Amino acid sequence: MMFRRYMASALTNRPAVRSKLGQALHENRPFLLKPGELTPGITAREYYERRLALASQLPVRSCAVILGNQVQYASGAVFFPFQQDNDLFYLTGWNEPDSIMVLEKPTERLEDVSLTMVVPPKNDFKEKWEGFRTGIDGVKQFFNADEALSIDNSIDLLTRLGKVFKRNEYIYYDEDTKKSRKYNSNILNLVKETNSGTPRKLKSIIADLRKCKSEAEIRVMRRAGQISGRSYNTAMARRFRNERTLQTYLEHKFISGGCDKSAYIPVVGAGPNALCIHYTNNNDVMYDDEMVLVDASGALGGYCSDISRTWPVSGKWPSSAHKDVYEAVLNVQRQSIRSCNTAIADKKSLHDLHEESVRLIRQELKNLNIPKASEIAEKVYPHYIGHNLGLDVHDVPEVSRFNPLVEGQVITIEPGIYIPDTLDFPKEFRNIGVRIEDDIALQKDGCLNLTVEAVKEIKDLENVMENGVTTPFEDDIVTPL
Ligand code: GLY
Ligand code: MN
Ligand code: MN
Repeated sequence: MMFRRYMASALTNRPAVRSKLGQALHENRPFLLKPGELTPGITAREYYERRLALASQLPVRSCAVILGNQVQYASGAVFFPFQQDNDLFYLTGWNEPDSIMVLEKPTERLEDVSLTMVVPPKNDFKEKWEGFRTGIDGVKQFFNADEALSIDNSIDLLTRLGKVFKRNEYIYYDEDTKKSRKYNSNILNLVKETNSGTPRKLKSIIADLRKCKSEAEIRVMRRAGQISGRSYNTAMARRFRNERTLQTYLEHKFISGGCDKSAYIPVVGAGPNALCIHYTNNNDVMYDDEMVLVDASGALGGYCSDISRTWPVSGKWPSSAHKDVYEAVLNVQRQSIRSCNTAIADKKSLHDLHEESVRLIRQELKNLNIPKASEIAEKVYPHYIGHNLGLDVHDVPEVSRFNPLVEGQVITIEPGIYIPDTLDFPKEFRNIGVRIEDDIALQKDGCLNLTVEAVKEIKDLENVMENGVTTPFEDDIVTPL
């Protein structure tokens, strides 16, 4: 028996790098970030420009305050992976817990806009347990903060914030309605005491900025989609017995291909499990006379991809009914993506695309000779055609789905058919669930499928299941993407 060992390349002699920094930067992780980037694919300059874009929406003598997230605990000392507040992340690239950003716009001149970051200071004892921190000097040096304060010195912090609120006329701050974030009530009280105003809403202004992705953002999302799509193909080329083995195989591929993590908890549902839209137990066995529905994808530099595919567990269609339902969903998905090509010119909204997809599903159900197709379309297709995608999987929900779509928006197109196990439906179709999902970047003249690698056409799918993948899948890589 021959074994082949795969290794990216020989690496010895670890270079002396700035290893005592917190989050990954070019200085401590040169294989993840290029010079000038603060997060994969996004430069410090782009973060600066985002802050100016926000400032240009605010009146003179205003300031905006955003509380970062804190580490959340599952139970006792067991913590969840840290998730930054995505508005703060969007404007700074800062990805360490217990931080606050304050943006001030004192005059008309955008050059006068200043950023103050409040962050955890370097602390030898804490860093020994929790990992290195970028610290107060680091946030100035690398993240271009004009001023930086310690989150631990609450007296100094509140005194300084009080001064900021006093010298500004308008304070933009979104109250933490869950009241779980440290300093939320201090800030609200301080605004009352020093500014005698009510904070103005900030979230919807940032949502409008986040809605339209820059070229760099599209490149990062395309890369996450490409890696994830290729991961699907390698999974389709293998046979799995357990939903959880398939889940972890895919997640391994996302990360070894260059993503940072899964963008969300995967759905891996074989047979009737596919009928539950958010099935995440992923602990069943998979039978050869079923299909498996997978909704899983990687995230890179904070940006999510979001892919669903459905394919036969054994590599062969269990019945013509399975293949017919698959083809019905594929027809709707293909047609919906085609509509994206002209969505901007036709002034269509996400809701228009959704309504179109319901009509298409209805027609496909009729073609399948499913009784009462018109009435049951919404029953077998109970969710929406898609959502905006970006730093959040369901990105910027503040943006109305009824507004015309615009250039730079990235949306998912994810129709599905899930046929319940009831007498209303012909026996051969019962318990079949299919969803097919791609990520589509809208452009003025057309659109770009960011997840095009994941095969879905019947011929391509059959070919991959039968013959495996032909594109080499580079993994365990040690160079920036
Ligand atoms: N993966 C979540 C969704 O498709 O919306
Ligand atoms: Mn999905
Ligand atoms: Mn989705």
